[in-house]
Amino acid sequence: MKHPLVILLGATLCLALTGASPARAARSPMKATVQKTPFGKLPDGTVIELYTLTNAKGLVAKVMTYGAILTELDVPDRQHQLGDVVLGFDNLDQYLAGDPYFGATIGRVANRIARGKFTLDGQSYTLATNNGPNALHGGLKGFDKVVWQAEPVEVPHGAAVRFSYTSPDGEEGYPGTLHATVTYTLTDRNELRLEYTATTDKPTPVNLTNHSYWNLAGEGDILGSILTLNADRYTPVDDTLIPTGELAPVKGTIMDFTKPMAIGSRLGQLTNNPQGYDHNYVLNSGGGKLAFAARVYEPNSGRVMEVYTTEPGLQFYSGNFLDGTLKGKRGMVYRQHDALCLEADHFPDAVNHPEFPSTILRPGQTYHELTLYRFKVQK
Ligand code: BGC
Repeated sequence: MKHPLVILLGATLCLALTGASPARAARSPMKATVQKTPFGKLPDGTVIELYTLTNAKGLVAKVMTYGAILTELDVPDRQHQLGDVVLGFDNLDQYLAGDPYFGATIGRVANRIARGKFTLDGQSYTLATNNGPNALHGGLKGFDKVVWQAEPVEVPHGAAVRFSYTSPDGEEGYPGTLHATVTYTLTDRNELRLEYTATTDKPTPVNLTNHSYWNLAGEGDILGSILTLNADRYTPVDDTLIPTGELAPVKGTIMDFTKPMAIGSRLGQLTNNPQGYDHNYVLNSGGGKLAFAARVYEPNSGRVMEVYTTEPGLQFYSGNFLDGTLKGKRGMVYRQHDALCLEADHFPDAVNHPEFPSTILRPGQTYHELTLYRFKVQK
């Protein structure tokens, strides 16, 4: 095996870590580093690289070039013990065998497009339908299944890697050549920043997000995790999870997370979607500026994750379709509600809803969105 390439980011002292054990205690202080190691090969021989970002406090984020997927994120609990808070697999083959988008970068268009059809500037487009009657998460081979180019980026207080992908005109049915980037930064303030850009040579819809499955305890279910959402409204959906167009108030309903609430406390009362939450919340910020979107507190570990985003929406998905058949990292079996997703993005099917914030990117414009996850502990 080749030696890991260790890139020092203005370092005088550097610890090149070869892996993160879930029980390792956070170390401090040290300089942030980026380390590259091979993670596996695609069937055509393409080598997939894993970038390990370590911040000055010893937190670790691992992201691979396949799908720009976050495979691991080690953050401290109340006892300062690092633990991995995202679902995923130990090796590339398991990701290739198919998974529900664990940790993946989703594009060109996250979430659903009704019947896989939309019209833009008078022209109709048809996409593959890969979720019942609808198109989901970019198509059959979305951005979660392509190989991204990666380069470490120097940042003053953290470790960062930029992933780039050029999607050819017509890929998955979408118009225009799209140049997309996502930069992962693990800051020394214990934040994971995901910054997205895109440019196009033809008008096209773009709605990028990250599909991490969070479990702040590192194991077990998330029903006892306490969630707060900065959203007074949500977008009700039909029985194929396409928004009706209404922006409904959450007040007085089981959708209301404006005050901290255990995720499992009202789950059985969801009638239209009895499996659990799978809803887009309309963030109070309206999007366009970095603003508080969500907070998750896990009482046993004490871990807290705050989500800030420039996006107008947040899909809260309570891991409804995990069914115990996937064997994940460290031999863990992922059962229904063993994780939650908080996908910051534009609203589902926005391309067919002119009343929703637009997802259309035109030549000359630059798509730019930022989502930040801040980790803390609560005593
Ligand atoms: C969707 C779920 C879907 C999941 C796929 C989420 O973004 O809202 O309906 O099952 O992605 O893993």
